[in-house]
Amino acid sequence: MTGPRSASREPQVFFATCAPGAEAALLAEVKAARLGRPEAQVGGVRFQGIVADGWRAVLHLRVALRIYRQLARFAAATAEDLYQGARSVAWDRVMGPEQTLAVDAKVSSSAHRHSGYVALVVKDAVADWFREHHGVRPSVDVEAPDARLFAHVHEDRCTLSLDVAGRSLHRRGYRVAGTPAPLGECLAAAAVGLTGWDGKSPFLDPFCGSGTLLIEAGLLAANVALGLLGSDFSFARLPGFDLARWEEMRSAARAAVRPPRRLILRGGDVDPAAVEATRRNAEAAGVGDLVRVEVADARDVSPTPGWGATVLSNPPYGVRLADEETLEPLYNSMGHVFKDRYKGFHVHLFMASGRLARAFRLKPQRYWPLVNGGLPCRLARYEIR
Ligand SMILES: C[S@@+](CC[C@H](N)C(=O)[O-])C[C@H]1O[C@@H](n2cnc3c(N)ncnc32)[C@H](O)[C@@H]1O
Repeated sequence: MTGPRSASREPQVFFATCAPGAEAALLAEVKAARLGRPEAQVGGVRFQGIVADGWRAVLHLRVALRIYRQLARFAAATAEDLYQGARSVAWDRVMGPEQTLAVDAKVSSSAHRHSGYVALVVKDAVADWFREHHGVRPSVDVEAPDARLFAHVHEDRCTLSLDVAGRSLHRRGYRVAGTPAPLGECLAAAAVGLTGWDGKSPFLDPFCGSGTLLIEAGLLAANVALGLLGSDFSFARLPGFDLARWEEMRSAARAAVRPPRRLILRGGDVDPAAVEATRRNAEAAGVGDLVRVEVADARDVSPTPGWGATVLSNPPYGVRLADEETLEPLYNSMGHVFKDRYKGFHVHLFMASGRLARAFRLKPQRYWPLVNGGLPCRLARYEIR
């Protein structure tokens, strides 16, 4: 029998998920956080460590959407295999009998077609295990469970994991004011990472919307671990949680926060409500002092010459053809504006459509395909000379 102390030192396998295309950015930060044996895979990065490394990942990773800790992997050619495999886990090491659970599932298999059914079989196996060993069945809470489980069935194998934070990490807690088309926080962090920005040189977003790119850049520059902003991480309610260890990690992260003295992140938007939203969100994120925004049409902005300055922006993009037609002249003008007034800048644009990218009429030095909420997008890099 292993006690709780030795259990906490047992080797674990984790998988941090991210938006498709953001794997390289996530891999870089998993390495920077010194999480063990990182390996990029499609849709995320696998790493190894002990239970507390999952908490550390929640505290430090910016690009990750969820952190999963693997609980079991077993053959699941039939529903019975799935049930028996899920029932073979010592569940009271994962959650308490009186605690709530939710099971999410993803299926890519010819043996199992419905993710809802897979989730139901796993949930029944957990409930039956608790009834047999503790005489109670845990209840289900799909909104805010104590333990959120994830069953991934690929062909005839199931990987059963615990969602370490119990929720998506995109909820940083700073989005107090919204605008119509905000970029996801984790994707914004990935875009900042992919630009290779050094956290010191000037940074601009002339289509800033609710400020996500500026705020993620500011948090990175100030070395703010995002887990410091959030709370309600479910691992803090589950067996084996070590409050002293978690507080130690948080204190170290707090001590490492260093707002850069001279850095100003500049933003603009033609919509005054967006500018106000950016101000409020930046304030809520604790980077209000670093971010300066103004109401401005990007076509009228003449930045001070900024050799080595980084532009990272997400201009409006049409999902329908009609929107694209309307937006083409804006992209066309911005192509000229960047060419004439942004010499020496590294301009990065997050765009959805190839047609609009072409209207821009600048040749990208490089681009990264990314997926934003199911929509194929690209981050293109232009060196303006
Ligand atoms: C896709 S949104 C940017 C979203 C932003 N990245 C965020 O996370 O909230 C595009 C923004 O461009 C702004 N915009 C549209 N035309 C503009 C122009 N000519 N100059 C400046 N901003 C403009 C819109 O008001 C909108 O807020």
